[in-house]
Amino acid sequence: MNLILLGAPGAGKGTQAEAISAKLGIPQISTGNMLREAVKNGTELGLKAKAAMESGALVSDEIVIGILKDRIAEPDAANGFILDGFPRTVAQAEALDAMGVQIDKVLEIYVPNERIIARMSGRRVCEGCGASYHVEYKPTAVEGVCDACGGKTVQRKDDAPETVLERLSVYEEKTAPLKGYYEKTGKLVTVTGQEEVADTRKLVFETLGIEG
Ligand code: AP5
Ligand code: MG
Repeated sequence: MNLILLGAPGAGKGTQAEAISAKLGIPQISTGNMLREAVKNGTELGLKAKAAMESGALVSDEIVIGILKDRIAEPDAANGFILDGFPRTVAQAEALDAMGVQIDKVLEIYVPNERIIARMSGRRVCEGCGASYHVEYKPTAVEGVCDACGGKTVQRKDDAPETVLERLSVYEEKTAPLKGYYEKTGKLVTVTGQEEVADTRKLVFETLGIEG
């Protein structure tokens, strides 16, 4: 199964991608996580991406399409993958089509903007593996320590309230048009993000036809 998760920043793409990945045994491919890793390691790619990411803007299509293309060519993606945060512009969606990638479903997670802002302030992410938590809705077993890998959980720089507002406006302008793009292919399905992570997961699994 090749899946795309679509949704505003903080809608829960990463959280649901982790759950689907664990259930189906196919990788979660998060361009955001890959870019954050590059920034942390100070690679050439990271240096190019850093300023855009910290201000809430998008990284250039050229850079992101390049890293995505390399990633889906890796052996673990041969039996399917979950794209979390890609494509984010019509140009990226067209590039994916040009690569000959067949997409089975595009799952949009819809959450109203006012809920998003509350969620971002409580989000914590693992510095090591990128896993996503929330101080209230999805706490780690031990405060500040990732359940999955034991790494340190921290707040993302782009989760500052003013940067979140900028990211939401970029989403409306650049990414929301993808709903129309995929609606035309008949592959778009929408789930409303619920108050509890487990309730959203249930809806997501039902919509994708995955046994809970
Ligand atoms: P990226 O990392 O993709 O960020 P994003 O799309 O803004 O989305 P988030 O990761 O913030 O949110 P999410 O939907 O994954 O939510 P999460 O599950 O964490 O991208 C970051 C930056 O990289 C971009 O701004 C851009 O600069 C660059 N970039 C990345 N991809 C790019 C591309 N393709 N092109 C160009 N630039 C690109 O959930 C949020 C919080 O809510 C968590 O704390 C979670 O625990 C909690 N939560 C989740 N679900 C629930 C629920 N049901 N109830 C309560 N809380 C919940
Ligand atoms: Mg994410």
